[in-house]
Amino acid sequence: MKTRFLTGITPSGTLHLGNYVGCIRPAIEKAKLPNTESFYFISDYHALIKTRDPDRIEKSRMQIAATWLACGLDPNHVHFYRQSDILEVPELNWILNCITSKGLMNRAHAYKAKVDDNVAAGEDPDNNVSMGLYCYPILMAADILMFNANYIPVGRDQIQHVEMCRDIAQRFNQLYGKEIFTLPEAFIDEEVAVLPGLDGRKMSKSYDNVIPLFEGGEKALKAAILKVVTDCKEPGEPKDPCSTSLTQLYDAFATPTEKEEFANKLRDGLGWGEAKEIVFKQINAEIGPKRAKYEELMRNPQVVED
Ligand code: TRP
Repeated sequence: MKTRFLTGITPSGTLHLGNYVGCIRPAIEKAKLPNTESFYFISDYHALIKTRDPDRIEKSRMQIAATWLACGLDPNHVHFYRQSDILEVPELNWILNCITSKGLMNRAHAYKAKVDDNVAAGEDPDNNVSMGLYCYPILMAADILMFNANYIPVGRDQIQHVEMCRDIAQRFNQLYGKEIFTLPEAFIDEEVAVLPGLDGRKMSKSYDNVIPLFEGGEKALKAAILKVVTDCKEPGEPKDPCSTSLTQLYDAFATPTEKEEFANKLRDGLGWGEAKEIVFKQINAEIGPKRAKYEELMRNPQVVED
């Protein structure tokens, strides 16, 4: 049997460079390995936990699908789908709900963070906590167990959910006395960079520090890179390559030799303005042709649907 990779992206906004480097690019590479079968999907039911705006979900869903395709996902080779198109997913979700203990969900960190925020704000602990948010890891378990996936490429924030999925699968197998479900594992590739955002923290929508992937075109990419925080050293002064996110951004798109050259130029006094121009060119060389494909797909939503 082939090794199965499965991962989902929730359509609640647009994608940024961190999503590309951390998820999309490596997932497309994984799908090309021999003896693997990949399942990549858009978790639109999960989006309902974050937003009640149908237009936003629809738009984001289309953008994310077009992004995967523009970045080279081959839909003839990968199972590429909307969560909501597989009716058995919510069906399995309910079955799993009935064997999952409430205590396990009490420990889920997305839910716990919300409760902590409420308590800190002097609110009722359950304020604005929907059952969707509370049971979110069970729907995720249904996504994974539906296809008996082996490896789940995810960011570190999702490891707990994959571990909960294992717990749920184990309990189900034990209750029914058979190896019905495969126990999945989170797949964290140490080679894959976690991109820093404009301010040096992890690039994330919730920190408002992202560099857009395609949205806003080349102009928006350049404008965002110009905003990356640096110290106030003048051109000509030696600079520490580790003192700015620019280096990690460049490195995620460069060969080992190019990385070394860029770091040396900074040590030799390259100005920040010029450094930003180099970073922009390097990233745009990889992203630009994909952006053209993306824009074409966005003009032809029927092609994306098909
Ligand atoms: N919860 C994931 C996120 O927000 C998306 C997701 C939904 C997912 N179902 C999944 C990821 C199953 C991996 C496997 O990032």
